[in-house]
Amino acid sequence: MPPDPSASATTMSILIKTADEIERMRVAGRLASEVLDYITPFVVPGVTTETLDTLCHDYMVDVQGCIPAPLNYAPPGYTPYPKSICTSINHQVCHGIPAPKALKKGDIVNLDITVIKDGFHGDSSRMFIVGDASILARRLCQITLECLWIGIAEVRPGARLGDIGHAIQQHAEKAGFSVVREFCGHGIGRSFHEEPQVTHYGEAGTGVELREGMIFTIEPMINAGKAAISGLPDGWTIVTRDRSLSAQWEHTLLVTAEGAEVLTYSAAAPAAPAWLADRPVVFPSYPPLP
Ligand code: MF3
Ligand code: CO
Ligand code: CO
Repeated sequence: MPPDPSASATTMSILIKTADEIERMRVAGRLASEVLDYITPFVVPGVTTETLDTLCHDYMVDVQGCIPAPLNYAPPGYTPYPKSICTSINHQVCHGIPAPKALKKGDIVNLDITVIKDGFHGDSSRMFIVGDASILARRLCQITLECLWIGIAEVRPGARLGDIGHAIQQHAEKAGFSVVREFCGHGIGRSFHEEPQVTHYGEAGTGVELREGMIFTIEPMINAGKAAISGLPDGWTIVTRDRSLSAQWEHTLLVTAEGAEVLTYSAAAPAAPAWLADRPVVFPSYPPLP
């Protein structure tokens, strides 16, 4: 969602999750990631994003016993979102609406999954390269994934939100890419979008101080060209103004006593980079789900 200019450190009320809520967020996070694992083999040339939506919807509802959070989601000023997942192709930045249009070789597509399980939300997205793609497209997807992990590596009690945004912005701009400003990561829990707003740009040492028990997403949207975006008449789809490619990856994170726990993880989730092993970032160990 767009950053709210009226939000500030002094007006924010960021929920600190209880042990019980954290346990439920672990389950929701794992389930969101498992939807992405499930859909991966279907993301091939010729499949329509509407088919991907139907497959994910049925998996969430019938297999996982989840509610797809996007379906009919209607924050203030928006019409109800008509589908169960977001599918953002090529120059689409985010919130692309699944449609009866086939993916083609060379496309890059973001699939963004948010489930509600037992009252709590898990939110994660990944990029998929359809068939193969240009060197630029592949590099954009890779740098954007690095931006996500670089942001995650900043998460620990006492760090500030600006540390995360700054680290992400540095990495994206060093690569010659730009950071979308109008949409950001967000607190998450019983609500899909809650405080704080996690911008993917900023100044180190500024902004809200992180505390153990906070849960929020990091979800950088990085453009190959300029940062400017516009919205399509469908009321949801966001595209780059210059029609350059855009990529996004998203995880839901818990602030732990030491650093961060990646809640949206599962068996087939892309591995963290090797350098992250030196950082206080942990992954849940999953008992079998009932
Ligand atoms: N999953 C998106 C996010 O990461 C929000 C999608 S809202 C929808 O915040 F209505 F478009 F699904
Ligand atoms: Co999100
Ligand atoms: Co999302």
